[in-house]
Amino acid sequence: MNTRITRAALAAVLATSATLAHAQAQGPVKVGFMLPYSGTYAALGTAIENGFKLYVDEQGGKLAGREVAYYKVDDESNPAKAPENANRLIKRDQVDILVGTVHSGVAMALTKAAKESDTTLLVTNAGADAITGPMCGMGVFRTSFSNWQPAYAMGPIAAEKGYKTAVTITWKYAAGEEAVAGFREGFEKSGGKVVKDLSLPFPNVEFQPLLTEIAALKPDVVFTFFAGGGAVKFVQDYAAAGLNKTIPLYGSGFLTDGTLQAQGQSAQGLLTTLHYADGLDNPRDKAFRAAYAKAYPGVAPDVYAVQGYDAAQLLAAGLQAVQGDLSKKADMRKAMRAATIDSPRGAFTLSPAGNPVQDIYLRQVDGLENKVVKVAVRKLADPARGCRL
Ligand code: PHB
Repeated sequence: MNTRITRAALAAVLATSATLAHAQAQGPVKVGFMLPYSGTYAALGTAIENGFKLYVDEQGGKLAGREVAYYKVDDESNPAKAPENANRLIKRDQVDILVGTVHSGVAMALTKAAKESDTTLLVTNAGADAITGPMCGMGVFRTSFSNWQPAYAMGPIAAEKGYKTAVTITWKYAAGEEAVAGFREGFEKSGGKVVKDLSLPFPNVEFQPLLTEIAALKPDVVFTFFAGGGAVKFVQDYAAAGLNKTIPLYGSGFLTDGTLQAQGQSAQGLLTTLHYADGLDNPRDKAFRAAYAKAYPGVAPDVYAVQGYDAAQLLAAGLQAVQGDLSKKADMRKAMRAATIDSPRGAFTLSPAGNPVQDIYLRQVDGLENKVVKVAVRKLADPARGCRL
């Protein structure tokens, strides 16, 4: 047997085993999920966790040679409990990485806690503009969107259809208010006018009085932000009131994502804008969807699952750059900020503020799918107003 080993080969073997030994000595990377597992956004939290774990499982359960250990808190989409919930993960569990959350108000409190403890945060849904605006930080990353992004993209689309007047309706908190502001900016820049903003407290679903008001106002179009369980009920109520026959309903795509099974007939034909769609013709998305269907039978992949999956990809890029050594925090974060994420939505990069620069799709509901109609805006970057790094 030929046992001759070149010096270079030996060095390579030693280097690899040293890296692996180092990774093992460090134990698992501790990832803390702060997500809603109850309430109107419960399904969204589960989809994010599913997506994140799917990517890690595809890597054999390890990122940069290190096992991943998960910790969980149900944030209930309750901003009042957010500081305490964040500290359970940060102080009690001492996680290395925070992953969360869905609700903008909760996410702002989470961002504050992450920055105070210098814990790296991956925001996997919440669009609060402030997170990659005035609250931005080197350790703060978002793999989802800013509330401004999908809503702004809908403005010119509505104007192009010839609509002149719009009424908006949403929950009265950051996500709804910022989505409405984004739509207004895009619509009015294109010659339209928002004539009335309607809202109700989160997570209320007594839409009837507001629908009566819309019927009386008779705008050319209605723009809305609702998501999760509330979106299901809103779309059903809008159709039950007969408004879908007279006033077109537009929205950011959360209105119809992960909700179509429950909305059924009432959602058919709805047009929305979002950074993900069904029927994207790219191999990455096809592979993701097949893997998701296998891992979670009976659950359709949606935008939330994609955002979770991409958070794991972003973390992997950071860990690889420092060979799993989390003490090299600054280097890891630098690599994350520079990463190109090979996402099912289409590849994206992060803005200097840490928000995805991404295509926004116009989609239309057809059966159980939000089928892509076209790219509404290519490589849309959030303006990151107020971010200083
Ligand atoms: C938010 O609160 O930022 C939020 C919640 C649910 C969504 C989108 C945004 O689907």
